[in-house]
Amino acid sequence: MLAGVVLGRNMGDSLEALREAVREDRAVRQESRKWSAMSGYFADSPLDGEDPLIYEVFTWIDGKAETNMLATITVLYPGQIGGEHFHTKGHYHLNPDGSEFVVGYWGEGVLETAPREGSITETPIRPGSHFIVPSGHAHRVVNRSLEPVVYLSISSAGVGHDYAGVVACGWRIL
Ligand SMILES: [Fe+2]
Repeated sequence: MLAGVVLGRNMGDSLEALREAVREDRAVRQESRKWSAMSGYFADSPLDGEDPLIYEVFTWIDGKAETNMLATITVLYPGQIGGEHFHTKGHYHLNPDGSEFVVGYWGEGVLETAPREGSITETPIRPGSHFIVPSGHAHRVVNRSLEPVVYLSISSAGVGHDYAGVVACGWRIL
């Protein structure tokens, strides 16, 4: 249970619970990231002018000073563009001390993390697996499977996100 949302045993029920929370405005915000909103994050373009939905993010921001948490559930869909698997944009945290806790909920994905100088580390995300993104590391998730990947992320609400910086970090095409 998270902010009044009860996730179901299958992904369809869980997605419906999340969308209901958004409709009822229970402090949940939903963003859809289509390919057209990810300029520079894929090397190629979809065929036939398509604009596929790459991922959705459901966000809770608890602005209370005593907790100050940011929690997101990301649904990363399967697919490829020019042979490049669907992935999130990825980001650094603006707060250099800001780390992030990631828990797999559904499907199988790969969490990629990288320091500003150094190589990429790949960590599988599976239901129940968890990982702490070290502070100062870029991070994104790639879906190389045929099913959606769903995961929960928790960080400080003030962590801040630098999306532009990761375009130059060398992992745009994998
Ligand atoms: Fe993050």
